[in-house]
Amino acid sequence: MLAQLDSLKAEALAILATANDEAALEAARVNFLGKKGSLTTLSAGMRDVPVDQKKEVGAKLNEVRIAITEAIESKQAALQSAKDAASVAGIDATLPGRPGYGVGTLHPLTKIRDLAVSTLRRMGFVLAEGPEIETEWHCFDALNTPADHPARNEKDTFYLPDGRLLRTHTSSVQVRTMESVKSLPIRIIAPGAAYRRDEIDATHLSVFNQLEGLYVDKEVSLADLKGTLEFFFREIFGPQTKVRFRPHFFPFTEPSFEIDILLEVKGKEPRWIEIAGCGMVDPAVFDEIAKKRGDDLLGGEKVTGFAFGLGLDRLAMILHGITDIRHLIENDTRFLGQFA
Ligand code: PHE
Repeated sequence: MLAQLDSLKAEALAILATANDEAALEAARVNFLGKKGSLTTLSAGMRDVPVDQKKEVGAKLNEVRIAITEAIESKQAALQSAKDAASVAGIDATLPGRPGYGVGTLHPLTKIRDLAVSTLRRMGFVLAEGPEIETEWHCFDALNTPADHPARNEKDTFYLPDGRLLRTHTSSVQVRTMESVKSLPIRIIAPGAAYRRDEIDATHLSVFNQLEGLYVDKEVSLADLKGTLEFFFREIFGPQTKVRFRPHFFPFTEPSFEIDILLEVKGKEPRWIEIAGCGMVDPAVFDEIAKKRGDDLLGGEKVTGFAFGLGLDRLAMILHGITDIRHLIENDTRFLGQFA
């Protein structure tokens, strides 16, 4: 039986060596290892092997089965890799790829918002938020804005049937924050959408993006306001940027200023452009919110503060020389791709 097994092994390996397609390989497998295959038939003879030889014959049987199985597997692998090679024959893997869709990039508005937020966070401001659908009280009354103020006009503001409105500025987040804080100081920034019924053109959309800031504590001064915002604009536009504070009026700050920066574009006359509104929080605002709170954290002229609000769309436009605000919402990849 040992001799039979050896010759079976030799025969099988010789046949497998010449099996050059899958069908021949499968036929050989059935012939030798199948239910009625020669190895299976031979192993049935184990019954008649004398007891003292069973161990040796058993071991041989195993050895032959393993040798045949391995030969089949390695032949299978060789056939498969020949097939793989054939399927890529003629393809030059060293050619450059065809350009498909490139990796995406952040929207210029997202980038400027992130830059503004991270710059102010370094100065100790934390993020705050409020709803875009606001009450008149949060958007106007608490901000010392009289009932006949033009901003409250139906022509300028989107009102809901229930009397609420789409906030016209993020200054309502000042109110939301002062209404709910537990302690001082308050040092928040609130980026977010604001809505106005503007005629849409190159510089106006009915939805735009603002960033509000508010700092309230025992001794916040105009010097703090100037220092903070000058630093901020120099971080955004570069250390040489000239910043000026021009007296203005807002109902909720006193004194109030508009901030201009000097825009210096090569080949053009430098010109001042308005970039933000700001001022010292009007005591009337503290008093109105203190009344609502019913405690004395903010009332009685105990605290001072400054606030500012800027347009993020405008910031992005100035920074990148974008001349039409509508580019920012049109999702045209020819435009967006320039910020990759
Ligand atoms: N809310 C004002 C605006 O939208 C900007 C502003 C914010 C002014 C805070 C002063 C203080 O025009």
